Amino acid sequence: MSEKVYIFDTTLRDGEQVPGCKLNATEKLELALKLEALGVDIIEAGFPVSSPGDFDSVSQIAKVIKNATVCGLSRAVQKDIEVAGQALKFAKRSRIHTGIGTSDFHIKSKFNSNREDILGRAIQCVKWARNYTDDVEFYAEDAGRTDNEYLARVVEAVIKAGATVVNIPDTTGYCLPYQYGEKIAYLVNHVPNIDKAILSCHCHNDLGLATANSIAGVISGARQIECTINGLGERAGNTALEEVVMILQSHKDLGFYTNVDAKQLNPLSREVSDIMRMPVQPNKAIVGANAFSHSSGIHQDGFLKDAQTYEIINPEIVGAGESKIVLTARSGRSALAHRFQKIGYQFNRNDIDFLYEKFLQVADRKKEVEESDLQMLAQAYSPALATN
Ligand code: KIV
Ligand code: ZN
Repeated sequence: MSEKVYIFDTTLRDGEQVPGCKLNATEKLELALKLEALGVDIIEAGFPVSSPGDFDSVSQIAKVIKNATVCGLSRAVQKDIEVAGQALKFAKRSRIHTGIGTSDFHIKSKFNSNREDILGRAIQCVKWARNYTDDVEFYAEDAGRTDNEYLARVVEAVIKAGATVVNIPDTTGYCLPYQYGEKIAYLVNHVPNIDKAILSCHCHNDLGLATANSIAGVISGARQIECTINGLGERAGNTALEEVVMILQSHKDLGFYTNVDAKQLNPLSREVSDIMRMPVQPNKAIVGANAFSHSSGIHQDGFLKDAQTYEIINPEIVGAGESKIVLTARSGRSALAHRFQKIGYQFNRNDIDFLYEKFLQVADRKKEVEESDLQMLAQAYSPALATN
């Protein structure tokens, strides 16, 4: 029996914090509806106290979303929590996400405080939030660099105060996957009331490890992943939703599933990229333009014999259309024959041997040989030439 991993999408909050990615209320609402259709379980719609515009966005989203929980972020500040509670008032299912920094960096440098005081503030903010909703998520900011023993005390205390989900953010993207996994395992094994809450992974990508860390967290006992479309988020970004969903789907042996409809991943990735004016890197897993393109002769030949030799995911499953055979100076004869076939030319082995030499001349001049080049080569070709 596989177990569910809850997908908490924070594209509209952590993703929208990225410079240049700011959205207006209409755009946020449009994306929230798409995220709901995608099948995410929780939509973090914004940080209501941060601006009147964000308050309006969160409350509009709260009014229309029916199948997902709508969540609002707050600091461990009574006013923030009150405002989040107001913004979420009309939600069918609401969650307040509140918390405070727990690493010594945060306790000393940010708050000029001490561990006992922060523990008290953590308990207090959860209690305030429980006045507005039964679904309260606590975040221990910079948990990635927080001493495990202290973190376990905080987690136990906030669960006792009423937190139903506890977020263990690797805010600075510092942890290695085994360390993040061990942190989650430590909490599972040392927090006596851990069965009363869900542990959540919120991993940043400063060392390119956000996805790996989130998966390590789930393997160790977390059951929620916080993530964004295209991995958008502060600095180097957050965990990419499309990556964790497809890792869990591809590795069924891990024993987890999500409710996300994978077919929508590529269309939604493009939409988010357009609306946030944030291009997706071509080599990005699952949604990059090259994720299902084959360009070297060795790979193309193997792929054309059996797609599974070089593809672990059928692109149609993630809404990316067909795999592409790209023609470059590194391509081989089978790729060339395949591309000619696609535009209606059935050439035999001799024809291809001849055309391949012509093709290489074009390919050496250009980065990519296009359909128009193939048409030109085919039309200039006379089979009599190949036999001479
Ligand atoms: O990265 C982080 O720690 C956060 C929290 C506010 C959850 O985004
Ligand atoms: Zn974050």
